[in-house]
Amino acid sequence: MDNLIGLMNRIQRACTLLGDYGGDSALPTLWDSLPWVVVVGGQSSGKSSVLESIVGRDFLPRGSGIVTRRPLLLQLHKLIAEGQEYAEFLHLPNKRFVDFSLVRKEIEDETDKVTGHSKQISTVPIHLSIYSPHVVNLTLIDLPGLTKIAVEGQPESIVGDIEKMVRSYVEKKNSIVLAISPANQDIATSDAMRLAREVDPTGERTFGVLTKLDIMDKGTNALEALEGHSYRLLNPWVGVVNRSQADINLKVDMIAARLREHEYFASSAEYGHLAGQMGSEYLAKLLSKHLEAVIKARLPGLQSFINKTTNELESELNQLGRPIAVDAGAQLYTILELCRAFDRTFKAHLEGTRPGGER
Ligand code: GDP
Ligand code: NA
Ligand code: MG
Repeated sequence: MDNLIGLMNRIQRACTLLGDYGGDSALPTLWDSLPWVVVVGGQSSGKSSVLESIVGRDFLPRGSGIVTRRPLLLQLHKLIAEGQEYAEFLHLPNKRFVDFSLVRKEIEDETDKVTGHSKQISTVPIHLSIYSPHVVNLTLIDLPGLTKIAVEGQPESIVGDIEKMVRSYVEKKNSIVLAISPANQDIATSDAMRLAREVDPTGERTFGVLTKLDIMDKGTNALEALEGHSYRLLNPWVGVVNRSQADINLKVDMIAARLREHEYFASSAEYGHLAGQMGSEYLAKLLSKHLEAVIKARLPGLQSFINKTTNELESELNQLGRPIAVDAGAQLYTILELCRAFDRTFKAHLEGTRPGGER
């Protein structure tokens, strides 16, 4: 049987193909009920670095200003067998990327395709799947960084537009909020925690991450924060050490960086006792486990949404008449088949997870 996160990934792709990616619809859509991990934080807080560490690959556009201008829906698929890692975009079916610098280029080109070179933002997501034996099953969404000022060449309205887009993702009850704050700034001033506090006051679906532990002022440390005394969350705080700008310039590879992060915690006088619960590999496993638990808990609700979508698609198809010659009809038909398959799989999962049921 397909794993639950893999199933959700296919539903997410179907939604985007149907044109359902949030937007301004007054009624809740299937998209609104999908579970995933949403990455939020201020500009330069380390969002891209955390994502790349979780993937173990360099593949995100970098630069100053607002680089991420469309949501990036990142689906990680763990390959059981050893094999070559590759990436695939939803908008380029059947094209496998094995060179991750071309993945970065494609994200940049796709961003510009929709936003022009205007530096505006767009809510239309880019879907990227990465298949690798070195990742955990996980679905993450990278969003533009929260900012207080527009940079040159960007319209003033961008500050509010970004806040609105980020908010639309973190407000959803099925979203897990990955709130990134740099350890060399006061948590009280963190953009990520400001938003997290607002949308998830009890802290049940927020995971707090502290970056830049290695460049805190001498004589200070982040123990208070990591132990949850500065900002209490129901889930544990995780500290990470990503590559510095100098490391990136020197092209320190991700595997070496992971190893160094490991050593940093293991040999740290301050954090040594927490070493087992720190670092990006630990964070990835924690998120994967949590995401699967959220999906399991939400299965019945998701199933009823799928059923509704199936009914709507069926009536839409009936109006088009069969057999369908046009492309749009063929696409609807494929998605309908997909929905039916989900329904069967959901039922099987629900039966398997019922109290007393064996799994
Ligand atoms: P984003 O704007 O939130 O995506 O932030 P980036 O991931 O691009 O990071 C911004 C800058 O901070 C880059 O130059 C990174 O190399 C640096 N950086 C991020 N995390 C760390 C960290 O844990 N330690 C150090 N020394 N630098 C970091
Ligand atoms: Na922040
Ligand atoms: Mg970034």
